[in-house]
Amino acid sequence: MKVLIATEKPFAPSAVQGITKELTTAGHEVVLLEKYKEMTELLEAVKDADAMIVRSDKVTPEVLDAAKQLKIVVRAGAGYDSIDTAYAKEKNVIVENTPGQNSNAVAELVFGMLVYAVRNFYNGKAGTELMGKKLGILAFGNVGRNVARIAKGFGMEVYAYDAFCPVEAIEADGVHACKSQEELFQSSDIVSLHIPATPQTVKSINYQLVNMLPKKGILVNTARKEVINEEELLKLMEEREDLKFMTDIMPDADIEFKKFDGRYFSTPKKMGAQTAEANTNAGIAAAKQINAFFATGDTTFQVNK
Ligand code: 3PG
Repeated sequence: MKVLIATEKPFAPSAVQGITKELTTAGHEVVLLEKYKEMTELLEAVKDADAMIVRSDKVTPEVLDAAKQLKIVVRAGAGYDSIDTAYAKEKNVIVENTPGQNSNAVAELVFGMLVYAVRNFYNGKAGTELMGKKLGILAFGNVGRNVARIAKGFGMEVYAYDAFCPVEAIEADGVHACKSQEELFQSSDIVSLHIPATPQTVKSINYQLVNMLPKKGILVNTARKEVINEEELLKLMEEREDLKFMTDIMPDADIEFKKFDGRYFSTPKKMGAQTAEANTNAGIAAAKQINAFFATGDTTFQVNK
């Protein structure tokens, strides 16, 4: 079978080697399309692919229509909001993700951004420490749990809210379980977002919610830009000069946020999962899932059932 690795943001070279080895050992042919600039390049490359590994690459109806042989797409990562899963289902294309494989990398970046924030963007002035501060984790999935683990190492008090995770499971991890998003924002000095982008969560991080953060609150986003109501957050940051917003996903209103000098930071490109380890874990998991699918029809990680 022909397996296309289509990554606008490439994996680390060592990960590409590992993925290729995994697939070729199982008898598949590998085609690599990295750093493509135009959709036409992807449309051309996908034409005769039987399987495809992607990251945040957009798998639109146009891509699925062009992919006449495609049987399976594996998103090497967690969030699959960039894939039209319903249209893939219509076309009998299996969509899978590789949950948990890159979550430690994302969690570590949260703390990279937080230390930068509390030390005033390394401007030389006295900042504060994370130890003893209250960290609120919104959604206690794979990334949220890793954030909680690392936060305890910093000596932080950890809170979490997850609409789908039982309170007992949160508390079993030594984390205070909040009953609502509102309670989480009220209880935390810092809130870290780990919710997926769904119709329910889009723009849910709004003026009213973020305004519940106490003085000198910090909002950190390593999830998806869509979950933030940018217009309302801009208004709030205008009104509250104590708030900081650290994000690994450049907002659409990046230029407007940039005027909050020393209170706003965005990575130029989503960096959370961009480590050799995360690339290798997620990429090899994707390759193994493709091998299993062609060998036995296994669809354990299917997300468009
Ligand atoms: C994910 O959903 O797995 C993360 O957001 C990482 O995305 P990326 O592969 O585009 O870096």
